[in-house]
Amino acid sequence: MIKRYFSLLLIVLISLRLSAQVWVVPAENETRKSPFAFDDASRKAGSDLYYTNCKSCHGEPGKNNAIPLVPPPPDMASAKMQGNSDGAMQYKLISGRGPMPSFKNTLSATDLWRVISFVRSFNPSYKQEIASASAAAGTSAQNVKIVLSWLKETNQVQASISGVKDKVNQPLAGAEVKLFAKRYFGYLLVDEPRTTDALGKAVFNFPKDLPGDSTGYVQLVASLTNDVAFGETKADTSLVIGVPTYRPPLTEKRAMWNVVSKAPIWLLLSYTIAVFGAWGFIIYVLLQIRAIYRAGGRKEND
Ligand code: HEC
Repeated sequence: MIKRYFSLLLIVLISLRLSAQVWVVPAENETRKSPFAFDDASRKAGSDLYYTNCKSCHGEPGKNNAIPLVPPPPDMASAKMQGNSDGAMQYKLISGRGPMPSFKNTLSATDLWRVISFVRSFNPSYKQEIASASAAAGTSAQNVKIVLSWLKETNQVQASISGVKDKVNQPLAGAEVKLFAKRYFGYLLVDEPRTTDALGKAVFNFPKDLPGDSTGYVQLVASLTNDVAFGETKADTSLVIGVPTYRPPLTEKRAMWNVVSKAPIWLLLSYTIAVFGAWGFIIYVLLQIRAIYRAGGRKEND
């Protein structure tokens, strides 16, 4: 009797576990398609992105050597992975789940499609469908420019976006912009992504205590989320908006990796004495051995 209940419970638990693993993709994402055709260039770029961002978890495509996480990262060539529509794959890359990170802020929209184009190269029966030109038009523009400026009173950074649309250079409304500050290693997202208003302007709140260089300069980079429609446009500007911070160069102070001239005299002296002492001892021992050898030779000749 208890056994029966137990197996029933087990079945319920297993089915719960399985249903928990279904990754629901909203209908509008499911049908999204890449605006450009996948070709050798996109697959090559996608391969580079895959090996830097994905291989550590998902393993070598087709080799089933993903790292054992729960839930496991599917192999890129597996039926589970290839069963996704292009749009579903894009959605999962943007949203992430559990150990699968979100790549919303780390990969541009174009780069996401490039990775997907690489993943598709492991599916011989894949036929690409491209987003119709009319769906992409309307929101797109050419020669897009981003200009960054500092609104001192409110400590905000303003991005002004303009581009050529319907043959006229004009401010671009409704474009989502992300602002990053360059740090020692990589970029830090400043504030939430913002959408431009009717004048093509978006305003970011800037933290008051962000360290800059010794004069307070902070290198800012702004980019558009939808770089598929607007092109891979970036602004790269340095503004004096950080807290001036003095960072000593790595070779300034005494350290293990530094040059000899930074070492203290006592260390140089004792090091030199130790080296000469050790070699002197070795040479002394060798001379003694030679003397013994010679003394032995003399006796035999007697
Ligand atoms: C830190 C480890 C990790 C990294 C890095 C990672 N993934 Fe994942 N990925 C996972 C895990 C774990 C899952 C399963 C998540 C789940 O089912 O809840 C997953 C699931 C996925 C899925 C959904 C598969 C499905 O169930 O339909 C896709 C698509 C995917 N990863 C693509 C990528 C790509 C492309 C990259 C690189 C840009 C990447 N992943 C980087 C761990 C990772």
